[in-house]
Amino acid sequence: MLFRQLFDQTSSTFTYLIASKKGREALIIDPVLEKVEQYIKLLKELDLKLVKVIDTHIHADHISGIAELRDKTNCVTVMGDKTPADVVAMRVADEEIIKIDGINLKALYTPGHTSESFSFLMKDRVFTGDTLLIRGTGRTDFQNGDPRDSYNSIFNKLLKLPEDTLVYPAHDYTERRYTTYEEILNINPYMRLAYEYYKTKNNTIKDKFIKVFTEKEKSLAHFDEYDINLCVDINKMCGVVDDISYETLDQLWSKSSGACG
Ligand SMILES: [Fe+2]
Repeated sequence: MLFRQLFDQTSSTFTYLIASKKGREALIIDPVLEKVEQYIKLLKELDLKLVKVIDTHIHADHISGIAELRDKTNCVTVMGDKTPADVVAMRVADEEIIKIDGINLKALYTPGHTSESFSFLMKDRVFTGDTLLIRGTGRTDFQNGDPRDSYNSIFNKLLKLPEDTLVYPAHDYTERRYTTYEEILNINPYMRLAYEYYKTKNNTIKDKFIKVFTEKEKSLAHFDEYDINLCVDINKMCGVVDDISYETLDQLWSKSSGACG
């Protein structure tokens, strides 16, 4: 198997390239529009054929590259079946398997950050989008997000996976590359509190968690709603931006960078 973690500096987004060595079929998760030419160059260098491209959720902090990749490579666009992006070719249900030659990814419905967020499990690693980050969790105060859903998705789904599963999120603002469950439960400040509550069901811890989490959500409120909504609207079309110049977008999404977590 071939695995590459790519990084977009502007939006601090991780994009993942996965491919089989044998059939040379490739899959990309969470591509950023601005980087599409780089992905195509890399695919050529590695002699890979892109067959599928996935967005974990409708992003609010960068423009998705899935439509551009579809148009340039004829690959199939994939999202979870709760997505409002009706131009997506393949909508996968919870637990459905996405196949490319020699590689299987299991779709996991993990709402919370947004109501349509999915994670994708591949053997020893899970791509969590913004549901679970390295030192945080995705904000839940927009796009029908819900902190209770987030808690459920994390504790009753993601953390039920084998304990040595590696967590690869859609963002990290200090470029930490991935994390482990051990680190999440002991270092991630929100998760540490949530985990204590999970174990003890102690309401004092719950109150403390709600306070810390609410403050974090408030700290993200300075992101301009207009910028975020524009990103969301464009990404509901899979990132099709016909009538907006790249320069305008550049300004827009650099203002939204960091808005998700
Ligand atoms: Fe997000």
